[in-house]
Amino acid sequence: MDKNSKIAFLGLGSMGAPMARRVAAAGYPLTVWNRSAGKSDGFADVAGTPGQAVSDADVVITMLSDPAAVREVVGAIAGELKPGAVLIDASTIGPEAVHEIAALLPAGITLVDAPVMGSVDKAAAGELNLLVGGDADKVMPLLELFGTVRRTGAVGTGAALKIVMINAIVNGVALVAEAYQLADAYGLPEDLVKQSLSTSPLAGLATRAAAENAFYQVKLAAKDVDLAARAGDLPIARAVHDRLTSYSEASDEDIAQLVKHFRS
Ligand SMILES: NC(=O)c1ccc[n+]([C@@H]2O[C@H](COP(=O)([O-])OP(=O)(O)OC[C@H]3O[C@@H](n4cnc5c(N)ncnc54)[C@H](OP(=O)(O)O)[C@@H]3O)[C@@H](O)[C@H]2O)c1
Repeated sequence: MDKNSKIAFLGLGSMGAPMARRVAAAGYPLTVWNRSAGKSDGFADVAGTPGQAVSDADVVITMLSDPAAVREVVGAIAGELKPGAVLIDASTIGPEAVHEIAALLPAGITLVDAPVMGSVDKAAAGELNLLVGGDADKVMPLLELFGTVRRTGAVGTGAALKIVMINAIVNGVALVAEAYQLADAYGLPEDLVKQSLSTSPLAGLATRAAAENAFYQVKLAAKDVDLAARAGDLPIARAVHDRLTSYSEASDEDIAQLVKHFRS
């Protein structure tokens, strides 16, 4: 690919919008599409349907909520893709869904799974960590706009590693929230607990549990832990999933807010 390669970006949510802005800022011809109106302000070329967005594109990027959304959108665009195009799915959907969408694509379309680690702050700064499965050689310059690329192997391995990582991180944030809850039960001062966590092996998770510039909704975390729990016998993931989904008032909040909910 080169700077004249046409890019279509589908899904301008919390993560998709800042990622698409980086594509536009880098000078690629970009067409965007989002299911609901109002999220494409500031983009020069906005398509009315996903099919219109991709029909001329050399590379298509999807950044959508969950497996159902990606299946629906890829189902709608599969027949419209330009021969030889590359489809990069950056959503967190797990390897099974990646293989399902691969089966929807016509011959000659290359699928790359490129889920990302890092939240909206890192997306805006181009500092995500991308876990990339499949033949991504042609699209490396585009992927590197978003952050650091880790090649994981065959199609689906990026998606699998993402679930491994995010399941552990969400479980870990829940563990930190539970540590605060236990400290409250003992009547320990918050600052003392915070300092002790920050010098323990839980330091990174405690930092994430206090993040202010991230926006990874509890409902997305529940979706990711559920994907993990469906792939194996994971009682910790299942328990965390049940706890996350019990806080319906928190579902649209960042996972850092779990500390507050566990303590209330
Ligand atoms: N937020 C984070 O910190 C973070 C970090 C790493 C990875 N991720 C993953 O990245 C993906 C996107 O996350 P996000 O935070 O950007 O989510 P988000 O803000 O909720 O955006 C979701 C996007 O998916 C679209 N969508 C949902 N269902 C759809 C459907 N059936 N058909 C078409 N479009 C549909 C939404 O369109 P509408 O605008 O019409 O609703 C929106 O554009 C998720 O898989 C998430 O797990 C998120």
